[in-house]
Amino acid sequence: MKETSVLCLLFLISLLSSTTNQARLTVSPSSSQFFKGDFVSLSCEEDDSSAGWTLRRNTSKQQRTQCGDGWGRWSGSSCNITVYPWDSGVYWCESREGPISNMVNLTVTGGSVILQSPVLPVMEGDDVTLLCKTKTTPSNLPAAFYKDGSLIRKQPTGHMTIQHVSRSDEGLYKCDISGHGESPSSWITVTESDPPVIYSAVRTEDISYGQITIRPKRTRDFKPEPDVVYSSLK
Ligand SMILES: *[C@@H]1O[C@H](CO)[C@@H](O)[C@H](O)[C@H]1NC(C)=O
Ligand SMILES: *[C@@H]1O[C@H](CO)[C@@H](O)[C@H](O)[C@H]1NC(C)=O
Ligand SMILES: *[C@@H]1O[C@H](CO)[C@@H](O)[C@H](O)[C@H]1NC(C)=O
Repeated sequence: MKETSVLCLLFLISLLSSTTNQARLTVSPSSSQFFKGDFVSLSCEEDDSSAGWTLRRNTSKQQRTQCGDGWGRWSGSSCNITVYPWDSGVYWCESREGPISNMVNLTVTGGSVILQSPVLPVMEGDDVTLLCKTKTTPSNLPAAFYKDGSLIRKQPTGHMTIQHVSRSDEGLYKCDISGHGESPSSWITVTESDPPVIYSAVRTEDISYGQITIRPKRTRDFKPEPDVVYSSLK
């Protein structure tokens, strides 16, 4: 009886272990577009912080270069970087085994207008706010917003909220402010409202206490779910 449950647990553990070692790359301030000279901090949130990770990027000039290797500066657990247009590209976290996170596209402009749009995929049903900003004017100016090249809205306050986003809102967005110019374009990705759940690692020593705790986490929003506790061993 006892042996059977140990075997079951070991099977469960090996099943769960294969889904671990995931991380989420976060960008602060949270935006996919920046002005030349802005300060950006990138970090990896992961379940197992001992796993070790590096931040890498592809730009139009260089592929798979690591933070600190000619760009960015390591600061404990984040990569800090003062961005310039040549820093535009795809960024991701990587462990020795390979990529472990989502990828994000960052665009840096030498121009005077940016669109602040979500850098991470947004979930179906969420409200999304887009902000059209100039480099020089502190207050918000009237702006026009475009999706896939067509004008969708003109807003006197420079920001626009898309309520309850659906898959059809996915696309390439940009904005312009008359007299200041146009922003670069950025993709907004909309994902299904029910993201897959990943599980944190289960340590074998927990078995000797007669129970193991399985801690599910959602991959995209990282909201912890209630722990699942199995205590069938004793
Ligand atoms: C980065 O560049 C490498 C080498 O060209 C390529 O194999 C890889 O798929 C690129 N990764 C991304 C996320 O674009
Ligand atoms: C890097 O950024 C973080 C977060 O903004 C900050 O706490 C830290 O002091 C910065 N480190 C350096 C070396 O700039
Ligand atoms: C990054 O941008 C490229 C080109 O615009 C696009 O094909 C790709 O899907 C984007 N990736 C993400 C993660 O947004």
